[in-house]
Amino acid sequence: MKGIILAGGSGTRLYPTTVAVNKHFLPIYNKPMIYYPLSVLMLIGLRDILLISNPEDIDCCKKCLSDGSGIGIRISYRVQERPEGLAHGLIVAEDFVGDDSVGLILGDNIFFGHGLFDILVEAKMDIDRSGGAYVFGYYVHDPERYGIIEVDESGRVLSLTEKPSHPNSNWAGVGLYFYDNDCIGIAKNLLPSPRGEIEITSLNQEYLKAGKLKTKLLGRGFAWFDAGTHDSFLEAGEFVAAIEKRTGLMLGCIEEIAYRKGWIGREQLLRLAIPLEKTDYGRYLKALAEE
Ligand code: TTP
Repeated sequence: MKGIILAGGSGTRLYPTTVAVNKHFLPIYNKPMIYYPLSVLMLIGLRDILLISNPEDIDCCKKCLSDGSGIGIRISYRVQERPEGLAHGLIVAEDFVGDDSVGLILGDNIFFGHGLFDILVEAKMDIDRSGGAYVFGYYVHDPERYGIIEVDESGRVLSLTEKPSHPNSNWAGVGLYFYDNDCIGIAKNLLPSPRGEIEITSLNQEYLKAGKLKTKLLGRGFAWFDAGTHDSFLEAGEFVAAIEKRTGLMLGCIEEIAYRKGWIGREQLLRLAIPLEKTDYGRYLKALAEE
């Protein structure tokens, strides 16, 4: 499976902050937003990752993450000329994906929770074994604001509905999707929606129609933020700060993940800490290397 991070879009819900700045580089507490989705892909073992962004922001992406070799992964970049939708990102990624399956994550989504990665790895292995697609549900009290997944008692997906006025479920679909290689061909055959986007929901509907859409539900005990509004952006930062201060452990620390996975050694971790030595982030990396 290859990983894709969508870091384009318009960011209009964060205006005026994002008039001049791509939101994915704004800080969620002590690190850029983009670190969090990248860390999710790394934690499930993906090391070949594509970052997609707008023409004017792609250099900023490269400056932030370079080619990934410093943290033992490979990061490639592609431009999405206009924000033509989440599923359009898959079309942009076609040559990168090749014959592989795909783990697609939205650049403004933040996940946390004990056992989360076991659930995701299980889904990833299922895709690589039997194909199909996975969406992940998160229980919310205001389902009318989200794309909703209706499931039966056995966990089978019955329907997907975008922002329903009369929701039949409280499970919101989060910004993380696993697909077999068919997703590219399916995305290419989708027509743009009335708002002019190739919609991820339409792609997922196609998998549902074919009986190939599966889901895993992330219940109580997990945190999920779409940091794309002023409130959720603030809440995500406060959440990360609270957990990090309480435990002394970082969330979304890509250097730590690379080190703990054995993708980089102690020397390299120390090298990465040097330019950051005036910050708690740098001191954290140094302490980790000296453990
Ligand atoms: P959205 O939050 O749906 O859109 P947006 O980021 O443009 O923000 P707003 O609604 O405030 O204008 O996008 C979800 C994620 O996907 C976000 O990280 C940006 C990214 N994205 C792309 O990379 N390409 C796209 O074509 C779109 C629509 C979004």
